[in-house]
Amino acid sequence: MSHPNHTTVVGIQWGDEGKGKIIDLLASESDVVVRFQGGNNAGHTVVVGGKSFFLHLIPSGVLHANVKCLIANGVVIDPKICIDEIIQLKERGFLKKDENLLISQNAHVIMPYHRLIDVARESDAQKTKIGTTGRGIGPAYADKVARLGIRMADLLDRERLKRKLIPILEEKNFLLSHYFKKEPLSLDHLVEEYHGYGNRLNVYIGDTSSVLAQAISANKKILFEGAQGILLDIDHGTYPFVTSSNTVAGAVSSGAGVGPRYIGKILGVLKAYTTRVGTGPFPTELEDGIGDFLQKKGHEFGTTTGRRRRCGWLDLVGLKYAIQISGITALAVMKLDVLSGLDQIKICSAYRHRGKILDIYPSDSDVLQEAEPVYETLAGWKEDLSHVQTFEGLPLQAKKYIGTLEAMLGVSIEMISVGPSREQIIHSSPRVGS
Ligand code: GDP
Ligand code: IMO
Ligand code: MG
Repeated sequence: MSHPNHTTVVGIQWGDEGKGKIIDLLASESDVVVRFQGGNNAGHTVVVGGKSFFLHLIPSGVLHANVKCLIANGVVIDPKICIDEIIQLKERGFLKKDENLLISQNAHVIMPYHRLIDVARESDAQKTKIGTTGRGIGPAYADKVARLGIRMADLLDRERLKRKLIPILEEKNFLLSHYFKKEPLSLDHLVEEYHGYGNRLNVYIGDTSSVLAQAISANKKILFEGAQGILLDIDHGTYPFVTSSNTVAGAVSSGAGVGPRYIGKILGVLKAYTTRVGTGPFPTELEDGIGDFLQKKGHEFGTTTGRRRRCGWLDLVGLKYAIQISGITALAVMKLDVLSGLDQIKICSAYRHRGKILDIYPSDSDVLQEAEPVYETLAGWKEDLSHVQTFEGLPLQAKKYIGTLEAMLGVSIEMISVGPSREQIIHSSPRVGS
């Protein structure tokens, strides 16, 4: 049985499902909200009172005054971005109490050479273009695993930072100047700048896993906030077109330093259609008028990079796979309002690949690239959904769409979102398995 006080929220497509909105909603009933993986490649939007907040590093629970926000060890942190985000939140009247934000001393730091290498690799015509966010995420995680990383605690001690950076910078500067033909970085400047960030963030840096252990002992309600989506997971996603962290719910355990039994209920967030930013296979992508309709009506531009998101129909093969590998126990369907106005709505129930039907998600991105979707077609609806408050209040065809998804996925849909703001949510009673 899952832990009754805890909830883990993960995206189950390629990111941008609407996790920020769901975290904000659930945070009102939580004591602690924890980011456990990813970095400022994430862009989570919360809309409150007509105002939009874009959160890249600070947990989306921050708009609730009594919620403690933790950035745990599994996150990679660009300290300048973190400081900017703190300043902006304070300017807007949030994060009044410094003790409400705690950053793990063990979280790895994204350094300037990580960003430079990320961008240089992406612009190298001979390398596979992933379409990264250019935030240095991949190189930072690579250094963590190679045991060449700088951690948040290192920023607090100038001499230690310098000692660690000397051999690292020798290697990075060689790579930057000789391979990527870029200017080398100055050790002294780097030490000054990053020690300065350490001083600025000092008040927030601490032992997040002990604080979590205390919160668990005190029966606090804990919400784990996933970034990206399951299909971008480094092991289980559409490799190499993935991010560089584990995005599955299981990553909570190592990324926050809590035992697996504390992961709790696992809520999978999905859009009522599919989007993807960056390159990589996308079998249900629509490069036609309907794709444009979804892109425009859904305002599908990346929160972090402003890039146009690729759009397509819902892909149940990918969703079933994501549900399976993350052990999803409930679903939230977002942006149902965007589908209003379509004559027909399609759902991909299988793929066809070289004459064979595939109903299991292929682990090989080349196979996925060649896979053609097999669709079930449902009737659309014209009504505007943005004011609907109950499941019963939805048009018949929208109810049928939700019912079909729930039946085909075998997991109950507990929330249906019909607009970006807090109020635009339908709490639908569980039907599957009840
Ligand atoms: P996240 O990364 O998963 O938090 O998602 P993003 O914030 O990157 O993208 C989701 C976008 O959809 C944001 O602009 C949200 O404000 C918006 N949004 C969330 N839920 C809904 C919804 O139900 N309907 C509409 N129209 N927009 C929504
Ligand atoms: P949220 O948390 C959507 C994508 C990038 C690229 C790939 C690798 O807002 O859902 P990276 O910079 O991580 O090395 O890029 O992953 N990507 C996201 N796509 N939403 C995100 O985060 C993403 N974070 C990374 O577009 O394809
Ligand atoms: Mg996003």
